[in-house]
Amino acid sequence: MAKDLLKFGIVGIGGRPKAFLSAFEKSGKARLTAVCDINREVMDENTKGLDVEKYTDYEEMLDKADLDAVIVGTPIQLHVSQSIAALKRNIHVFSEVTAGVSIEECKQLVEACKKSKAQYMLGENCNYLRSNMIVGNMIKAGKLGELFYAEGEYNHDCRNLIPKTPWRKTYTYDVAVIRYGTHSLGPILSWFENDRVESVCCVGSNAAVMHTDGKPLGDSTCYIMLCKTEQGRLIKIKNNLTSPRPYGLNYTLEGSLGAFTSYRLEDQQNNPDHIWFEGKSPKTQWEDISLYEEGFVPEIWSTHSGENSTKGHEGADVITMIAFINAVYDGTKVPIDVHMAMDMTLPGLVSQQSIKDGSKWLSVPNSREW
Ligand SMILES: NC(=O)c1ccc[n+]([C@@H]2O[C@H](COP(=O)([O-])OP(=O)(O)OC[C@H]3O[C@@H](n4cnc5c(N)ncnc54)[C@H](O)[C@@H]3O)[C@@H](O)[C@H]2O)c1
Repeated sequence: MAKDLLKFGIVGIGGRPKAFLSAFEKSGKARLTAVCDINREVMDENTKGLDVEKYTDYEEMLDKADLDAVIVGTPIQLHVSQSIAALKRNIHVFSEVTAGVSIEECKQLVEACKKSKAQYMLGENCNYLRSNMIVGNMIKAGKLGELFYAEGEYNHDCRNLIPKTPWRKTYTYDVAVIRYGTHSLGPILSWFENDRVESVCCVGSNAAVMHTDGKPLGDSTCYIMLCKTEQGRLIKIKNNLTSPRPYGLNYTLEGSLGAFTSYRLEDQQNNPDHIWFEGKSPKTQWEDISLYEEGFVPEIWSTHSGENSTKGHEGADVITMIAFINAVYDGTKVPIDVHMAMDMTLPGLVSQQSIKDGSKWLSVPNSREW
């Protein structure tokens, strides 16, 4: 007999979580039964035509809606408290990035996960970008050899979002810190399997970009964080949320047998994903990764591609949600558990103290020891 569909709730349906709506039907394993938002108008707008219970109070939804799982898609400072509220009721959690805004509250989240019968997953969608997953499979097959270096860049001018989402200014501009670093670190740590960032050192640029009030936006316009991993690898993270330039979510990876880059090269407008294999690729030229992708496309992408591929971070949003639904439905471990979430989140949080201490190298706590 077929199992019942999982019952899902969403908090923050007025914003980002609408990107996940098509995942329920596509998965064939879940349905959306309840939503919550403090803004009733946007909640109504984003749920037109859907048969769902609606709440303006989150805890009331958790208590009354009989949910198996909840998507936490509210502003970042609410992720930990809302995740804990669900975990206490043994409701599975899919949290938007980042996991938390301080080391202290991250400890509380880990504690709640230990006590709960439910699972917690961080919804780091960049781990599910098609090319990032293909590279992951090439690494597993040994094609890039021993990995030693990676770069992750997040260039996203979010100034226009500040009036509608003032929390962005409070948490990501007004404090010198890489708080929104998981888009960059997430995929890199998925490539560096069984490794974690052990120490970080962070530095900010001058403050060159002005806010609408004519004052500089933040202490620095851009931040660079260097990370050293337990296995001795080096990572460079660039976080830039103000720079007047095109959006850029870029990665570079280097191994003993080859390299990958997703940097959009000027003469290659269409596919930015390039690979280079020693002894195979032309000496001074990157090659389009699609030439080598056969045998490395992950199953989740083969099954759920098509119309997705141009929507929501190139389709990765829906794929990430399907991965979570599959794990909860099948009773297997979620792909990005709370410790992986901490591995992606804590280095950025430690960067705040490193900046304060004049870019001192500082160690990053290991949540498995908490
Ligand atoms: N993974 C990604 O690519 C990606 C992209 C964009 C945003 N995000 C993340 O998604 C989250 C939401 O971002 P956003 O731009 O939609 O922000 P937003 O401020 O628009 O918030 C989303 C919704 O949450 C609602 N809300 C706020 N407080 C609430 C509460 N206490 N209870 C119920 N609802 C509440 C708001 O009314 C709003 O409709 C953030 O954490 C952000 O970091 C992730």
